[in-house]
Amino acid sequence: MAFDLERTEKEFLSSLREIRTRDELENLRIKYFGRKRGILTKIASSLPLLSLKEKKILGPIFNHLKGELRQSLKERESDLSSASPKSTKEIQQKPLTSSLLFDPTAPGKEVFTGHQNPVISVIEEIKEIFHYLGFTYIDGPEVDLDLYNFQKLRIGKDHPARDTQQTYYLNDEVVLRTHTSSMQVRYMETHKPPIRVLFPGRTFRRDPVDATHLPSFYQIEGLLVDNDSSMTDLIGTLDFVIKRFFGSKTKTRVYGHYFPYTEPSIEVEVLHKNGKWMEILGAGMVHPEVLKNGRIDPRKYRGWAFGMGPERMAMLKYGINDIRLFYNGDLRFINQF
Ligand code: PHE
Repeated sequence: MAFDLERTEKEFLSSLREIRTRDELENLRIKYFGRKRGILTKIASSLPLLSLKEKKILGPIFNHLKGELRQSLKERESDLSSASPKSTKEIQQKPLTSSLLFDPTAPGKEVFTGHQNPVISVIEEIKEIFHYLGFTYIDGPEVDLDLYNFQKLRIGKDHPARDTQQTYYLNDEVVLRTHTSSMQVRYMETHKPPIRVLFPGRTFRRDPVDATHLPSFYQIEGLLVDNDSSMTDLIGTLDFVIKRFFGSKTKTRVYGHYFPYTEPSIEVEVLHKNGKWMEILGAGMVHPEVLKNGRIDPRKYRGWAFGMGPERMAMLKYGINDIRLFYNGDLRFINQF
């Protein structure tokens, strides 16, 4: 083919954009539409030389293009004569030929699709493992009442965990949840045992950003309430899940801890490849008063709960040493997963 409609259009549009005066516009018109040497005129005169098949495809495209270019010229002309010659809207539109010149035999262009952040993959994987154990999952509000985030979990007004250094208060009663434990009582209020549920979601704390802290991070809360649940059941379940997730040879250790809403409470650490222990979750038996706050009779039922940190789990699993990498949008990092 002795001409390239796509290039012709692009060149025309880019010249058109440069035009500032009527004279320049007239020159451009002559260059393209001139009776003898006009670029479009020449193309028109070579069309009859094409094969019938080519004519069928290119003829209508050419005519359409010619009409469009003429129209753009006209619009530019009226722009120039009006008081504000700024309207370049039409000129910047997507080149017309790119959608019209479809060549089914051309090699495809590589399309870049986005993909899941590794932290979300961890959440999905944990959901799947717990699904196998009979757990469902549910979302909860990120903006919640102080009541559910603290008070119903036995975190009184003067408890150090609600230090203003840590909590984003929207007003006296409303906070950005500092943990997904805010869902425990909310859920118990509206569900009867047996309960087996996960609450994955974002949480917020006023932590300065560094390699292991972000002001917003994810947690996966788990809650089980039944009539014969026990601490050994909790530890056995966590061990099963951690081995499924990190591999059957993973070393874990459990030690006593304190949370106002569980009694007794534990923390679980996993041995990192670098030889250091890393804490990945807090857990414990749901405090009888918390069950009561959720309108569940603690004489009949017992429950356990845990809260995992999926960022930390992803760091352990993939050997990542800076939590900021998950969210700064660097494709060189993200594309490895
Ligand atoms: N909410 C605790 C935290 O953010 C984790 C936890 C959840 C502990 C459930 C006990 C029970 O660290």
